[in-house]
Amino acid sequence: MTASPLPPFGHGLRPLWGLEEGMRFLNHGSYGATPKSVLAAQQAWRDRMEAQPVRFFSAEMPHALRAAARVLAEFLGTSDDKLVFVDNATTAVNTVLHSFPWQPGDELVLLRHAYPAVANAVRFAAERHGVTVRTVPVPLPLADEGQLAESLAAVLTPRARLAVIDHVSSPLSLVYPVKALVKLCRERGVRVLMDGAHAPGMLPLDLEKIGADWYTGNCHKWLYSPKGSAFLWAASEAQELLHPLAISLHLGEGFAAEFDWTGTKDPTPWLAVPAAVEFLRSLGPEAARDYMHRLVVGAADSLAREWETALPAPENMLAAMASIPLPDTQERTLADARRLHDRLWQHHRIEVPVQCIDNRLWVRISGQVYNQAEDYELLADAAVEELRRL
Ligand SMILES: Cc1ncc(COP(=O)(O)O)c(C=O)c1O
Repeated sequence: MTASPLPPFGHGLRPLWGLEEGMRFLNHGSYGATPKSVLAAQQAWRDRMEAQPVRFFSAEMPHALRAAARVLAEFLGTSDDKLVFVDNATTAVNTVLHSFPWQPGDELVLLRHAYPAVANAVRFAAERHGVTVRTVPVPLPLADEGQLAESLAAVLTPRARLAVIDHVSSPLSLVYPVKALVKLCRERGVRVLMDGAHAPGMLPLDLEKIGADWYTGNCHKWLYSPKGSAFLWAASEAQELLHPLAISLHLGEGFAAEFDWTGTKDPTPWLAVPAAVEFLRSLGPEAARDYMHRLVVGAADSLAREWETALPAPENMLAAMASIPLPDTQERTLADARRLHDRLWQHHRIEVPVQCIDNRLWVRISGQVYNQAEDYELLADAAVEELRRL
């Protein structure tokens, strides 16, 4: 049987999701949105689990999990012996920080504007182990990718042991030149944990070529899988020191064995990942990425023009999200950002994140295949109107 062709990208695809009618949903980035077909695949796994739980957990799940890991690994340009499932990027980052063999006096390098949960985990690990955190400034606006490499080079000292580097910056929406940054760290003997929370699905990924020691990515954002599906990739030589945060039945039996069982939980978000990969393949990954990029760059350009503000970097550093400063000169707080977000939702039914970056308010827009240009049109005026009322 041949599958019926999908409608063109845009609102015609919205029925493939359960998104509520009557809103402008410009925030795929925070939590993703899972298509109905992927949720159905997850439900089929749940039904199987509950039909005979003992058979499922003892006989079926171990194989099914590795089969799912193989599908994901192939999609990400790697092999499944280097990839395990975790609930989310936060868990993966904590896992590496917890396992790392810290010595007092070591330095841990983090980029400015790292995701706050990641920055907290870094601070927590540093305080526990007598490690110093060095922050890499991100000059805004960035003239080009090279500027970030220079900034990183200036922060790496002989005491630096681990750098935590974003692949796609959450507040700034910028795609960082990860291969160059990893190369720089390697030359200085610094190991790299890459936070690719937004990358799977949004970017064409080849994990082997990036060359990090550890890489984590969320599947529940841009790869369309159910919430609570992420992976932790570890280079072969970076696996031995790694243990899950919850030590369980298979301690000492190898990387995949330890992570595949960390206690009883619902594994169906992970088991549904092959259905999510299949969904993206049915859209055509390259065509989808191209659509999302053009949509978001077009909308970001027009918002920046209307607001007479500037994007934080050249367009070639954007993928499917863009962050734009609002036309506002006041010193602002996170509370202001939250109020503006709530007003945009309550009065205009626009769901868009508002951020406070260096005391200024910014919005971050996402472009997904179910969005089209009209979705962004109201935002320019609505944001200005609600800013005035803050
Ligand atoms: C760059 C970055 N890292 C980590 C995370 C955390 O993701 P999760 O909440 O799925 O752990 C996010 C979430 O948006 C993020 O943007």
